[in-house]
Parts: sequence; structure tokens; C-alpha cells
Amino acid sequence: MIYPAKETFIHKAAQALQQGNVVAFPTETVYGLGANALNAEAVAKIFEIKQRPFFDPLIVHVDSRDMVQQVVATLPDIAILCMDAFWPGPLTLVLPKSNNIPEIVTAGLDTVAVRMPQHDVAQKLIHASGVPIAAPSANPFGYLSPTTAEHVAKQLGDKVEIILDGGQCPVGVESTIIKIERDNITLLRHGGIPVEDIESVAGKVNIIQHTHVEAPGQLPYHYAPKTKIVLIKDITNIPDDSSCAIILYKKRDLPFKNIHTMYLSDNGDMRQVAANLFTCLHALDAMKLAVIYAEEIPEVGLGQAIMDRLKKAQARHS
Ligand code: TXA
Ligand code: MG
Repeated sequence: MIYPAKETFIHKAAQALQQGNVVAFPTETVYGLGANALNAEAVAKIFEIKQRPFFDPLIVHVDSRDMVQQVVATLPDIAILCMDAFWPGPLTLVLPKSNNIPEIVTAGLDTVAVRMPQHDVAQKLIHASGVPIAAPSANPFGYLSPTTAEHVAKQLGDKVEIILDGGQCPVGVESTIIKIERDNITLLRHGGIPVEDIESVAGKVNIIQHTHVEAPGQLPYHYAPKTKIVLIKDITNIPDDSSCAIILYKKRDLPFKNIHTMYLSDNGDMRQVAANLFTCLHALDAMKLAVIYAEEIPEVGLGQAIMDRLKKAQARHS
């Protein structure tokens, strides 16, 4: 059930977490499905609800540097630089794990993914529960991430007792994930913090073409709506047909009459585009169209995370 994210309901949710139950809550990126990260049985419920394979590890959410210390075994200097620059915010660090974190959280890896969310409700929830919260996005495995409480209710509502409603997620794409090994940084997933920003603070970020998938965010298809998605450079060539939609990243006048047209921003501001992306895809997917065309977006800054999600959505049907 959806509850407004007021103090009383945040406390009710925190109690549920302490009792080993699962709750859905807003973060600045997408909604998460959380459980006490120190309680293996509670975390198992997340996998069950999401139908998530056990080889896919979870991100642990913290509200303080002290809590980070509970979660990781070591904190390289470069991790501290990144935390100082981007926390709280949409950056996840993969670091050597501490023994406090059960294996189910990290899928047996010796590393743990950790992030400090910026969303006020997420911070209050972690604080009130007093424990780190393991949380993947609150969607069935492989489907679009939820950016509103209604998205969560629609996809998982019968399985989650408390969904805290904090409105629409302001960033709208998942966190950027980097792995830190001593002074080496490797990108595992594009997301809310552009790689260029990380490089300006912490030096070179290695982007490798993975033969070995370390994060399912790296799977060729993921984050996918049920409707076929086709990325398109030249939008003048698409059929003007009411069984289709076109998603444009900036608003402009087009000669189409029949095709459903959606704009992700007024003027091409990539923050607005990211914030609207999943909400737009959820709405179009519900219309059960034949094809959703999506205009290609310049792959710089946040554009890289946005195109990554669109390419993965397209790959599901090709
Ligand atoms: O913005 C976000 O990151 C959202 C909000 C809720 O925080 N969470 C999210 O979680 O997107 P999820 O589970 O949907 O994606 C987390 C990714 C997965 O692809 C997982 O494989 C990867 O993080 N991951 C987690 N722990 C890892 C580890 N130790 N090594 C490598 N990848 C890891
Ligand atoms: Mg996810």
C-alpha cells in the first residue's frame, strides 16, 4: 500500500525494516526495494519479490561515513575523494566488503556496492531504522525501473506492504557504479553522475568492454519495457501511425498527425531528459503500442546513461 512519506509513515517503515520486512522507498534516482542489509533472511525476501537471480548483488544504502565503515573492509583514498565530491548522491562505489555483510547481499563476491542517497526520505528512513539498507530498484528483474510510487504499486503492489511515496524521483536514472581497486577506477554502469565529472575529481576511469558481466546493468538487455523500442537518428523517416509513438529528447514542431509524440525536455537539458525517461516509457508501455521510436541522444555527460538504458531496452527485442 502507498503511504505519504511523512514522519509517522517513515517510522512505520523503519520498524518494518527492523522486524526483517521489506519496504519500498524513494531515492533521488529511482525507487528502491529495501531490507536490513545485515539480515540475510530479510534480504532474501527482496530476491523473492523481484524474481531476481541470486547471482545479482545488491547496493547497500548508508546515511553516514560511520555506517560506511560497518559495510566495507577498507576505504582507499580515491574512494574518499569520490565520497567527498559526490555523496550524498547517485554514485555507487564497489569496495572490499566487511564481514558484517551477509553473502546474499553481495552474491558471494568479496566486494560490496555502497551508496549514500541524497533523497531526504531515503536518508530519514536509514537513520530511523539505524541499519544499512540493501536495496535494488523496486521493479521485477529486467523491467523498467520505477520513478514514482505508482510504478512500484503497479508492478509489485501485492507483494510489498509499505510503499513510501516521495513523489517523482528527481534524477530519474540509476546511480553510476564504479569499482575501486587501490588507485584504479573501473566503470560498471553509467548513471546519474557523468563519467566526465568523476574523472575531473578522481582521475582516469577505465571503461572496458566486458566479456565477463560483473553487474547485470551490463547485460545487453535490461531496463526494458514490453513494447518494442527502436532507436532512430533521422526522425523524418518514421511512419505517422497511431499504433506507434516517438520520443523526442527536445520539444519542437513536427509534421506528424497520428503518431503519439512525447518530449523528454523543453530544450534538450539532459537532467530533464533523464528525469522524464522512465516515466515516459512506463506511460507509453501501458498503451500497448506496436513500436516506440526513440530519438538518439548525444552520448556525452548524462546522455551516456540515457542512451545506455535506451539501447538495452531496444536489445530486448532484437
Ligand atoms: O540508483 C540506484 O543505484 C538504485 C537505487 C535504488 O539506489 N539501485 C539500483 O539497484 O539500481 P539495482 O540492484 O537495480 O542495480 C545495482 C547493480 C546491479 O547491476 C548489481 O549487479 C551491481 O549493482 N552490483 C551490486 N553489487 C556489486 C558488486 N559487489 N560488484 C559489482 N556489481 C555490483
Ligand atoms: Mg535494477
